[in-house]
Amino acid sequence: MTTQMNETESRPCIFTRACSVVPFLGAVAIVVLGAMFLTMGGAKAAGPAVELKERDWSFDAPFGTFDRSALRRGYKVYSEVCAACHAMDLMKFRNLSQPGGPEFTEDEVKVIAADYTIEDGPDDYGDMFERARLPKDPFPAPFENENAARASNGGAYPVDLSLVVKARGGAENYIYSLLTGYEDAPEGFDVPAGMNYNAYFPGHLLAMANPLSDEIVDYEDGAPMTVDQYAKDVTTFLTWASEPTREARHRLGFQVMIFLTVFAGLMYFTMRKVWADAH
Ligand code: HEC
Repeated sequence: MTTQMNETESRPCIFTRACSVVPFLGAVAIVVLGAMFLTMGGAKAAGPAVELKERDWSFDAPFGTFDRSALRRGYKVYSEVCAACHAMDLMKFRNLSQPGGPEFTEDEVKVIAADYTIEDGPDDYGDMFERARLPKDPFPAPFENENAARASNGGAYPVDLSLVVKARGGAENYIYSLLTGYEDAPEGFDVPAGMNYNAYFPGHLLAMANPLSDEIVDYEDGAPMTVDQYAKDVTTFLTWASEPTREARHRLGFQVMIFLTVFAGLMYFTMRKVWADAH
């Protein structure tokens, strides 16, 4: 190969060196693109100035998956605590049984949904009626509209949590830090009535009072019933809700990389063969 290259140095590059270098570069480019695809979706807005607490999230690795038990417990925390103030407009009960999520069984989801009612109708007499929710129904919203939500929260708006993990710089580490970041304000820091000091909220003054305390949600699987564990689980749940197809994306990225690597190899040998007699 080297001697051939030397002999043909004066020829146009495309017929000589290029035919071995181009496929090689192509292969490298393809693998790099594949790797980018794998980690895509990790793009985050600029984070807040404070350094966030970081946990080892199982779903953050390139081939990472969600811990199913954490997702189930996280749903429990959301539904028993956060749902009193925060809606999740994009979620339907049936999402709880879809692959890649908490993967409750369909029967479990029916039972979960039936705990809530929804207005339906009109019936044969033209009247609206209440019925138990079904898996196809959305999660219930705690307030009729934004004004009602603000009126109940001293003017502050409890944001919809469906996409909140994606919507905040620092993503899951921010949500986790926020939920575990209630502290006494430093000396001289004035906390007005109705506000709360949080080490990780930009500006530190947050209208949401600390929603978590030890043992407020019963766990049946033996996981610790602590603020730290609740925060970790509900953050896992909210991350999945923000990107329910994250596991599928990881899998697809992996398959695309394998395919492209094999394809690049084939291209390399094909090119060598095709151009072998060209000089
Ligand atoms: C009693 C009502 C209430 C409960 C319960 C509650 N929140 Fe909030 N939450 C609020 C309000 C009000 C705000 C807006 C705060 C502000 O803008 O100062 C808020 C804001 C937030 C924010 C946005 C912070 C930001 O960066 O803008 C997140 C995230 C959040 N809550 C998550 C949760 C989670 C998770 C739970 C359950 C563990 C929960 N909240 C429980 C009322 C509540």
